[in-house]
Amino acid sequence: MDDIARAKQAAGRRAVGFVEDGMTLGLGTGSTVRPFLDGLAERIRAEGLVVRGVPTSEATAAIARELGIPLATLAEVESIDVTVDGADEIDGQFAMIKGGGGALLREKVVARLTAREVVVVDPAKVVERLGTTFRLPVEVVPFAVPVIERTLRHLGLEPSLRGAETPAGGYRTDNGNAILDCHVPGGISDPAGLERELASLPGVVESGLFVGLAHVLVIGRPDGTSEVR
Ligand code: 5RP
Repeated sequence: MDDIARAKQAAGRRAVGFVEDGMTLGLGTGSTVRPFLDGLAERIRAEGLVVRGVPTSEATAAIARELGIPLATLAEVESIDVTVDGADEIDGQFAMIKGGGGALLREKVVARLTAREVVVVDPAKVVERLGTTFRLPVEVVPFAVPVIERTLRHLGLEPSLRGAETPAGGYRTDNGNAILDCHVPGGISDPAGLERELASLPGVVESGLFVGLAHVLVIGRPDGTSEVR
C-alpha cells in the first residue's frame, strides 16, 4: 500500500466512528469511502448495529450488498443522519469539487438530504482554491453535449468529454449522462456563483461543485493517524 492509500484508509476508518445505532446513512463513492464501508460492515457484524444506507452509485451499492450492509432507496427515506463521502478537492470553507468517480449527481442528491455530511480525504485533496489540481466535472444530457461544450468555452472553461478516447466514444454515468471535465484557468474564484451559472444551463444535469454541503472533514495521514475538522 502506498502513502496515499494508507492516508485514505486512515480517513475512511476514522469515519466509522460517526455512525450510531439506528441511523440512516448516505454511502458515498470512491476509494476513500471503501475502508469506511469495510469498517461499517465489521461493526454491523460485531455489534449487531442496525443501520440502512442509501448508496450514491451502482458501484457502492454492489460493494454494500457484498459486505452485507442493508440498503434503502429514496422512496423509503426522507432524511439521512450521516453521509460519508470523498472529495476530489476541498477548500477552507468546505466547498468541494466532486465527481472524479462520476457519481456527482446522486452524491449531491444524498448530500442535500443529509444532516451531517462527513468528507473523507487524503491530504492532497485539501486546497487553497478549487480547480487548481482537479478538473471540474459537469454532468450533461448526451443530446446537449455540443451546445454545453461551446457555452462552457464562452464562459472561459476548457471542457473535455470524459472517455472520448474509448471505443464507446464517451463515458456514461449511472444516470446515462455524459461528463465534461473542465479545466478552469486560474482556478475557481467564486464556487457558489459558478455552481449557479452551470445549473442554469438547459442540458446541464449537475456540476461537481458542492457548496455549503459538507459539515465535517476527516483528513487521513499516511502514518495511519487522522485529523477531524
Ligand atoms: C465520486 C467522487 C469521489 O468522492 C471522489 O472522486 C473521491 O474519490 P477517491 O476517494 O477515490 O479519491 O466524487 O464521484
